Amino acid sequence: MQEMWNGSLGTSTVGRDVVVRVRDVVKHFRHGQRVIRALDRVSFELREGRFLVIVGPSGCGKTTLLRILAGLEQHDSGEVWMRPSRDGHPPFAMVFQEQSVFPWMTVRENVAYGLRLRRVRGRAAEERAGHWIRKVGLAGFERAYPHQLSGGMKQRVSIARAFAVDPDVLLMDEPFSALDEQMRTILQQEVSTLCEEQQKTVIFVTHSIDEAITLGDEVLVMTHRPGQVKRLIPIPFARPRDVVEVRADPRYGELYEEIWGLIAEEVRRGPREA
Ligand SMILES: Nc1ncnc2c1ncn2[C@@H]1O[C@H](COP(=O)(O)OP(=O)(O)OP(=O)(O)O)[C@@H](O)[C@H]1O
Ligand SMILES: [Mg+2]
Repeated sequence: MQEMWNGSLGTSTVGRDVVVRVRDVVKHFRHGQRVIRALDRVSFELREGRFLVIVGPSGCGKTTLLRILAGLEQHDSGEVWMRPSRDGHPPFAMVFQEQSVFPWMTVRENVAYGLRLRRVRGRAAEERAGHWIRKVGLAGFERAYPHQLSGGMKQRVSIARAFAVDPDVLLMDEPFSALDEQMRTILQQEVSTLCEEQQKTVIFVTHSIDEAITLGDEVLVMTHRPGQVKRLIPIPFARPRDVVEVRADPRYGELYEEIWGLIAEEVRRGPREA
């Protein structure tokens, strides 16, 4: 317990507003007769423009935490707060691990989907969708359907859809895990650049320690179930970043070793509850 992080945050964005606050969040799930504690007093804060990456053993509650933040799941106790957006719409957009594009919609319709929900229609929606389709490198594919696209292209559609609604906060759950290494690296760079350019606040879940170091300003390592915050590790690399150059920095290896050590300890220990 003494190694649990106490919830206070990094210093490099002092003066910026807190955009996300999670305090003592507890979540249980019922499996038949058994009750599983998925999250146990999880606390953190995130300031505007910061990129937080969450890593931890499989089943430690990462997706559950994101779903709670997105309002898709209810927590049992604790506080979850996200700064309301200026226009009254949800302040976040989510990108899932599974391809979450609608197969019956074209690329343009998929990207405009979130805009429609926010009642942006007609020419304004067309222009905004078109802008983001170009931005993620899908110009020329506006009328294509998802089955005509590669996995990487479908993830680009999801990313364009999330950015198109101009959310303050991006919630990303292993968005690149189904991609090959080359496509992964390309999309990591694109997302890193876009988030920096658009000053997005990001919570990004991944299994990849490499991805965590490459993208994050901070890496939050979770314990095995029930998921708690084990450690918050600041990443010293400035942004904007070259995701390939960062890997050649000697500090990269040290960070990798540190984070791997923390996760390996948890994996070896296994869940604390049945
Ligand atoms: N809807 C649900 N009903 C019952 N149990 C659930 C539900 N969602 C998650 N759980 C349980 O909560 C725990 C945490 O699950 P979660 O999907 O959040 O883990 P995760 O860290 O995202 O795992 P992974 O890295 O494999 O994606 C698991 O034990 C899982 O079985
Ligand atoms: Mg998950």
